[in-house]
Amino acid sequence: MSVQAFDLRDDDRRPPADDLIEVVQRGLRARPKRLPSWLFYDERGSQLFEAICEQPEYYLTRCEVALMAAHAAEMADVLGEDVRLVEYGSGNALKTHMLLEHMHAPVSYVPVEISPEPLRRSVQGLSERFPALSVQPLPGDFTRALRLPIPPRAPRRTVLYFPGSTIGNFEVREASNLLRKMRNEMGDGGGILIGADLKKDAATIEAAYNDRAGITAEFTLNMLVRLNREVGSDFDIGAFRHHAHYNAMAGRIETFLVSTRDQKVRVGKQQVSFTAEEAMQVEYSCKYSHADFAALAAKAGLEVAQGWMDPLGMFAVYYLVRAGSRVRDAAPPLR
Ligand code: AVJ
Repeated sequence: MSVQAFDLRDDDRRPPADDLIEVVQRGLRARPKRLPSWLFYDERGSQLFEAICEQPEYYLTRCEVALMAAHAAEMADVLGEDVRLVEYGSGNALKTHMLLEHMHAPVSYVPVEISPEPLRRSVQGLSERFPALSVQPLPGDFTRALRLPIPPRAPRRTVLYFPGSTIGNFEVREASNLLRKMRNEMGDGGGILIGADLKKDAATIEAAYNDRAGITAEFTLNMLVRLNREVGSDFDIGAFRHHAHYNAMAGRIETFLVSTRDQKVRVGKQQVSFTAEEAMQVEYSCKYSHADFAALAAKAGLEVAQGWMDPLGMFAVYYLVRAGSRVRDAAPPLR
């Protein structure tokens, strides 16, 4: 394998404490109060998310893995030969392995990941399993403009892989902006292979975000633990609780940290008051029907070239290309 040299020092990768405190203070001034969901993923939060994926109620990961087991070979055929595969967020080593297993002479694999540890781990695991593959890790935030490393040879196309239904964490407007950015990055003949959780009955969805073991609640509350440590706030962790509710009208899980009493919290020089039962929004997880997702893609100048579901019909993966590019520039047939 060839791993491009990169330097991962913690202090380079995280926004400086000042930026973090500003993000938090702005969110706490908003009405209703709201903190961004990327704040979940410190080291502990990433561990807790892995634990969520193993909970019996959290069907998303299991279904996407089953989907890959059933359809990864066909996906690889659709992507074609000599692809440069760029993954947004590289916490999903298993699914990536399942895809690369079937890909035809991939040019390189570029994991884009902001957290040093998951990035290091994904590079290591892949290099062991695919010694001939060129791995070019790109430390950074995939929501920003990326400068992709120069590939070892000219790819036929660039495919952006965005599994896990992470797109669901963005509101429709932000999601279409992100897809539009991806559309530019993949270039003319490129594509996007993207996972999205499907709409289904509310009870199934709600249970996935309210596991009986309480792991999701711990994951949500860990955001406050992180803020206390990193911005020096004094949230009383015992005075907030996790609340996740499926808003069927909006088609999304809405997760809140609810204050269990009247209280004041200090965040730097800011004093923030919470009333009893006040809910602070911390995450959306949007659910898409096939039609919803096609409409989202269209907003970003993309169209669904192909789609797959897991055997239970819970989760979908789509291959998106630039709208109108399919006839002119279809994937070349395989030899
Ligand atoms: C990693 C964004 C796909 O929204 O289902 C899991 C995160 N939050 N349980 C999701 C999450 C609470 C997860 N994604």
